[in-house]
Amino acid sequence: MSGVNDIRSTFLNYFAANGHEPVASSPLVPRNDPTLMFTNAGMVQFKNVFTGLEKRPYSRATTAQKVVRAGGKHNDLDNVGYTARHHTFFEMLGNFSFGDYFKEEAINHAWNLVTGEFGLDKSRLLVTVYSEDEEAATLWKKIAGFSDDRIIRIPTSDNFWQMGDTGPCGPCSEIFYDQGESVWGGPPGSAEEDGDRFLEFWNLVFMQFEQQAPGQRVPLPRPSIDTGMGLERMAAILQGVHSNYDTDLFRTLIAAIEDVIGSKAEGDARASHRVIADHLRATAFLIADGVLPSNEGRGYVLRRIMRRAMRHAKLLGARDPVIYKLLPTLIAEMGRAYPELARAEALTTETIKLEEKRFLTTLDRGLALLGTATETMSAGDMLDGETAFKLYDTYGFPLDLTQDALRQRDISVDLSGFTDAMNRQKAEARASWAGSGEKAADTVWFEIREREGATEFLGYETERAEGEVRTIVKDGGELKEAKAGDEVSVVVNQTPFYGESGGQVGDTGTMSGEGVRFEVSDTQKVANGLFIHRGRVSEGVLKVGAALELVVDGDRRSKIRANHSATHLLHEGLREVLGTHVAQKGSMVSPDRLRFDFSHPKPMDAAELSRVEAMANDLILENAGITTRLMAVDDAIALGAMALFGEKYGDEVRVVSMGGAKESGGKAAYSIELCGGTHARATGDIGLVHILSESAVGAGVRRIEALTGEGARSYLQEQDARVRRVAAALKTTPAEIGDRVEGLVDERRKLEREVTELRKKLALAGDGAGQSGGSTAREVGGVSFLGRVLEGVSAKDLKGLVDEAKGSLGTGVVVFAGVADGKASIVVGVTPDLTDRFNAVDLVRAASEAIGGKGGGGRPDMAQAGGPDAANAGAAIDAVEKALGSQSVAA
Ligand code: SER
Repeated sequence: MSGVNDIRSTFLNYFAANGHEPVASSPLVPRNDPTLMFTNAGMVQFKNVFTGLEKRPYSRATTAQKVVRAGGKHNDLDNVGYTARHHTFFEMLGNFSFGDYFKEEAINHAWNLVTGEFGLDKSRLLVTVYSEDEEAATLWKKIAGFSDDRIIRIPTSDNFWQMGDTGPCGPCSEIFYDQGESVWGGPPGSAEEDGDRFLEFWNLVFMQFEQQAPGQRVPLPRPSIDTGMGLERMAAILQGVHSNYDTDLFRTLIAAIEDVIGSKAEGDARASHRVIADHLRATAFLIADGVLPSNEGRGYVLRRIMRRAMRHAKLLGARDPVIYKLLPTLIAEMGRAYPELARAEALTTETIKLEEKRFLTTLDRGLALLGTATETMSAGDMLDGETAFKLYDTYGFPLDLTQDALRQRDISVDLSGFTDAMNRQKAEARASWAGSGEKAADTVWFEIREREGATEFLGYETERAEGEVRTIVKDGGELKEAKAGDEVSVVVNQTPFYGESGGQVGDTGTMSGEGVRFEVSDTQKVANGLFIHRGRVSEGVLKVGAALELVVDGDRRSKIRANHSATHLLHEGLREVLGTHVAQKGSMVSPDRLRFDFSHPKPMDAAELSRVEAMANDLILENAGITTRLMAVDDAIALGAMALFGEKYGDEVRVVSMGGAKESGGKAAYSIELCGGTHARATGDIGLVHILSESAVGAGVRRIEALTGEGARSYLQEQDARVRRVAAALKTTPAEIGDRVEGLVDERRKLEREVTELRKKLALAGDGAGQSGGSTAREVGGVSFLGRVLEGVSAKDLKGLVDEAKGSLGTGVVVFAGVADGKASIVVGVTPDLTDRFNAVDLVRAASEAIGGKGGGGRPDMAQAGGPDAANAGAAIDAVEKALGSQSVAA
């Protein structure tokens, strides 16, 4: 039973059998607390259950919780490798009561499990209690039969547990195991308590209060229980070893390190093996929970851990990347209990390898610099801050790595000199952006960015998390608070909201806390990684410092994810169908639709479009996995990733792949792109893609617009309904409407031709319906005159009719007034033999006046005019007739 995996399951089974709900470990990045860097105890995920804010369907729970204590209130990083007990990552086994049982039952369970299931020798156990907690002391006497000397009363914060500066807290009682006289050390509270002899392995916290702010402590609604047992420590006790690093799990990891690096864990080298084994676990678990190495926040803690491990690998003689090679051993040991390790294996392997490759290029040179700088130093000396900063800035040495490297020689680092150098560099950076011509309104963001650091984006992993309000901005100025109705921009320390970038629109949603609510209508990413949430306070007063629950509109985000992933599929499809000259020129990914601009010299035809669409839908039907990895740009491009020309990428890039290699014609996946956006989990989530249009946006640049999922489905449904309606109206089936409509169009064309012919005939034959102004030519002023109003004849047909009339008249003047669409048009024709006597232009002007026109124009033999007074068409003809008479008289 003493293997780590067995101990874990014995613990969980014991409490499950005693009415506790087994709950999975929460991620290392806490979703429910903005003040914590990492999950540092089992109770973190239940924080709001203790305070009564959150309800769960159970009042007892048990967990094996992943914990990282590096950075933040509980930080063990510096001790790792040099003590038998410290870890950056460890597993905490716990049982919890949410207002159900309290002290007595908690102590009872602890005693039963430890002495019963685990079979520890009672005579080796002792406990501490908080000095004011007489009740706990009495209970230990009663339950364990301990005499007073085995119950040590501690008056300090060691026996008052707090999660952080705020949160649930209470007095605690710790259980210790005496490893015997052969190990140096004294009982807790004694001068030798730091020795290893008395080993604390289980902390029972009697949760009674909530620390709401410094000096402000209120009772919890109901007293509760939170316990935490260090799994590694329990394993050491049960396996009879004095160091956690000698337990089965660590022995296996250390053997793998010996193997991969070729260095035995002996003598001084042992510390390095331990550091690597510990840091490997922290690294793999953090990456699996979405943290990636970076230069700020959580990512920087991870980077520090990784680089520290790398220096120790180097000390052991490793020249090439080695740490990533240890991952399979870790997964074999811990992958059953934590399946996320195996799920993230590809990402973790590449992330570690990349970090190793990059850091190894500067590690040697940095170590050489450090060697020279400290050559003449001896124990007790101090390295200057400038050199430490140069190592940090130029060689990528985190400060603690430098400190760690000098530790064995007992040389310290001038921390204030380091800080001065750092501040000087920041001042230079500030001067450069201040002079970069940014708009005054924008400089506020740079100032905030510099003060607060980049916003930590949690939205790849979650759509809900707590964040702490860092500042509120209105009209370019910072505020301490904003009240209901105010439209402001809010910056928080960490956010699940995606800030608009890379064509993907920003998220919307809400931020809320007790009595306050902020509706986020847009999120933007500015000033190199600062996320600003724009919106309106809809309730209460929003204050700087408030911890709020940030909730992204998940439905909208799912649509955005689907559209973004669809964009990648269409991009690849376009390249396959049109050729590799297709390159992305821009895109817009919103919840409703997507737009993708690409280089291509000519319009796509229908067959090409439908092939691109079909290829994307094939991949969707396959429900291929979508994976994201972090890589060096060059490696990503070597892998076949499509990078955007002219786009700026950092040293590391996210690489999004979709589909298998089999459809890809030699690449590692169907689609591989550098992309910082959020994506669907599998192509099947897209549901369906439908291209709406293809058009030109500029020279050589085309645009397609498309819909996915729900949007595509309802669009196609509406389209289908329209087709059915048309088919019904045409009295045919949807399948035949095409032929039917073509037939109708032909028929209509034929009919139009016939109508035109008939109109002409009618116009020339005279005496038909719709005519006025006389039927046959008359003598006016000594010439033949034919004048008619033709209803329904448009301007465009009039000229031809006048021409024909002139032809059949032989000699004379023709005036036709066409009336159509409430307007009148007049055409006057004069046969060639008469143009020296009558000018068609003059005649048409006379007519134009009658129909409210503005003159007219043409040639002496044919002129045209138009006007709005269709009712006066007859009068217009009369006007020409009159003009003709008077001209002839004059002639
Ligand atoms: N919260 C306590 C601890 O971390 C008990 O789980 O020690």
